[in-house]
Amino acid sequence: MCGIIGYVGTRSPRSLILDGLGRLEYRGYDSAGLALLVGDDNGGRRFATTRTVGNLERLLEAAGADDGAHAALGLGHTRWATHGRVTQENAHPHASADERVVVVMNGIIENYQRLRSELQGQGVVFRSETDAEVLPHLIARHYQGDLAEAVREVLPLLGGHFAFVVAHADEPERLVAARRECPLVVGVGEGEHFVASAIPAFLRETREVMTLEDDEVVSVTSHGMQIFDAHGGRSERAPHTVEWDADSAEKSGYPTFMLKEIHEQPSALWDTLGDRLRPDGSIELDGLGLDEAALARVERIHIVACGTSYHAGLVGRYLIEDWARVPVNVEVASEYRYRTCLAGPGDLVLGVTQSGETADTLAAMRVARERGAHVVALTNVMGSQATRDADGVLYTRAGLEIGVAATKTHTAQVMALALLALTLGRLKWAITEAGALDLADELRRLPEVLETYLASSAPDDVGAVARRYHDRPFFLYLGRHVGVPVCFEGALKLKEISYIPTEAYPAGEMKHGPIALLEEGSPVVVVATDGHVFDKVISNIQEVRARGARVIAVATEGNQEIAGHADEVLWAPRVPALLSPLTAVVPLQLFAYEVAQALGLNVDQPRNLAKTVTVE
Ligand code: AGP
Repeated sequence: MCGIIGYVGTRSPRSLILDGLGRLEYRGYDSAGLALLVGDDNGGRRFATTRTVGNLERLLEAAGADDGAHAALGLGHTRWATHGRVTQENAHPHASADERVVVVMNGIIENYQRLRSELQGQGVVFRSETDAEVLPHLIARHYQGDLAEAVREVLPLLGGHFAFVVAHADEPERLVAARRECPLVVGVGEGEHFVASAIPAFLRETREVMTLEDDEVVSVTSHGMQIFDAHGGRSERAPHTVEWDADSAEKSGYPTFMLKEIHEQPSALWDTLGDRLRPDGSIELDGLGLDEAALARVERIHIVACGTSYHAGLVGRYLIEDWARVPVNVEVASEYRYRTCLAGPGDLVLGVTQSGETADTLAAMRVARERGAHVVALTNVMGSQATRDADGVLYTRAGLEIGVAATKTHTAQVMALALLALTLGRLKWAITEAGALDLADELRRLPEVLETYLASSAPDDVGAVARRYHDRPFFLYLGRHVGVPVCFEGALKLKEISYIPTEAYPAGEMKHGPIALLEEGSPVVVVATDGHVFDKVISNIQEVRARGARVIAVATEGNQEIAGHADEVLWAPRVPALLSPLTAVVPLQLFAYEVAQALGLNVDQPRNLAKTVTVE
């Protein structure tokens, strides 16, 4: 989950690496470090290393102004602790005993205890509690003048999943890197190369990107790149050009990435529809790895995902089951991967993951694929691990999302699932052509509907309600039918960025336990959008109000009834009931955002979290 970056080239690496770390900070931010290869007093080279606890600002302060020495290359790291507490000693980069080898790593070396004991038996003294520190010691022991060769020899000794970049003071113009099941990309510039966990780290400098396969070793200098496979054979591969524009890694005038990304939802939806929804209402989903006949034969769908992506999957179930009449099982990936997997040939398994790197989702997809199911990755990141592990890909086109709390990727996932549901519905003759055309029109209308909403005074109204309730110690979220996943998502948003405990329940379940939590003044957020369960939800509202709770209702614009039942109303744009998760979730994103703002919290970097969860 950490962010790593290395630079070698003709420019000074210091600012490029610090800049890159700033764009990787969403991956982890409990400590950070920087190592620059600079000249020493004897005309040789040494690593100048700075490591700090806390976020990048602390590293920037500690690194101070340029020390004047021209650095030949550099490595940087922003950490999300897995092995070892958050201390300066555990912050990366880690060095070999003679400080000639320096490494930054993301991931976990699962057999590090054994490797550490072996190295200690050979007299190595460890300076940190991390698993990563075995790397510089091992590489130093295998080094005989060729860093890439030493890394190639060390790789088979390592268990787990990881990506790392290493430099040796005796090879001042070379970085070597390797990966196994963790992301690592090479940025190819003019007379320079970057190696990083993710493209945003160098997007301002180059859009030419090269991806690495598992257990490959890449060696980069200013002008050249060599890729070796596990046996030392050379691989040739051309870089590809990424389309993300560099501004997506900037706040563009917004105070936070999260707010910017909430406001980018209309364009995320529009781009996800893109040329897939044709003017005549037909839908073209290529890349699934299934032709129309095979899609029409799909009899069961399993959706595996984590967190917010899981909530998108839950919405997808309502759409697919209603429009296509195909049974859908939606499951948290970390559970699915360890259950007896009953997916098999004829089943479609969707791995929903915005990053395409979530360890549990990747594992769940692998389990299903081994059983013969057709696995499709629904992801936002081209070339991510999920796309390589799947038989097909359905991309959301939400653009880069940096805020740890997912917003625009969630609604884009729901939109992509809606396109799939409608396609299946048509192929299976489960929906009339007129019905399908109406739904296609509604989907096309959605980006504009949200744009109008976000430009209206409604977001300010949400802010006013949030400021009235921001000091409450607990929020209960209730909803029915498609309102249930909206509640789950709203409650997750609030707890992850405001640290206020929340519970989210199907409203009908409330009487079976959660109602005991309520006391005079307890805030209850109720998704009460128009639809066939509206009256049922109103009954649930009565029940909680009878216990003294204060109701904050999310209701459909124009609904006349809700005012008589709720203490506060957060309006959501009017769309057909089954599509309401795409609009009703937005006021809840804003509500969570405004509560966290009122509490003075850093919404883009909530504590203990990281954007991409590449560990189990
Ligand atoms: C969302 O706000 C969370 N930060 C988190 O639940 C996230 O959705 C989850 O980790 C899954 O990530 P993915 O979509 O990249 O797989």
